[in-house]
Amino acid sequence: MAGISKILDNNKKWVSSRNAEDPEFFQRLANGQQPKYLFIGCSDSRVPASGITGTGPGEMFVHRNIANLVVHSDMNLLSVLQYAVEVLGVQDIMVCGHYGCGGVAAAAANKQYGLIDNWLVNIRDVIRLHETEYLRISDDTERMRRLVELNVIEQVRNLAKTNIIQNAMRSDKPPRLHGLVYDIADGVLKDLNVDGGGVIKDMEHIYATEAAHKDDEASSYEGPQGDPADLPGEPAAEPAKAKKTAKAS
Ligand code: CO
Repeated sequence: MAGISKILDNNKKWVSSRNAEDPEFFQRLANGQQPKYLFIGCSDSRVPASGITGTGPGEMFVHRNIANLVVHSDMNLLSVLQYAVEVLGVQDIMVCGHYGCGGVAAAAANKQYGLIDNWLVNIRDVIRLHETEYLRISDDTERMRRLVELNVIEQVRNLAKTNIIQNAMRSDKPPRLHGLVYDIADGVLKDLNVDGGGVIKDMEHIYATEAAHKDDEASSYEGPQGDPADLPGEPAAEPAKAKKTAKAS
């Protein structure tokens, strides 16, 4: 048996074994999900999110991309993050890198691969930020392993830079951020203790933002000027105000 037939056959066997174990299993999942965890990992086939964390269906919300990056213009990641935090209310968010990551290795080499080069720039930025430490490691394997860790740390920082996480941190149930590294060679998951290491506190003076208060918004907006019959059209803004707005943008 090859190709998709094998997949469909595996699925039949899985359904049978699940039903045999727990006849209510699928019905319960069909009623909704309340995962406690959000996993942001690498697309690498050797790092299956459920398998390495011992979680089953319904327990973990998952986002994976090449080299487990948190990129602030990535609508996919931001949508997953917002939904997981604000709607599902996940309590633990983990960025999971892995030693032997091909994406990280490619970023450390100076070769072009096509479109992906633009994605890998994010890891080259990690090298630039930590260049002194990176260049000090003479052993090639050790340097790559450290780069995998530094990449995870920076991606956890990238999470903390989002307004989604910053707002969630001020809620009644602030989520915890974790940086993990998985070792393909022995299956062990290591906690880098990123949150406890002060790396998020260190950058707060630059990245911390606050939502505008609703009252402030209401008082700064004075509504459309002039005769409502003129709408839609150019709003008759006061010259001084228009100047201020242009300056702000
Ligand atoms: Co990888």
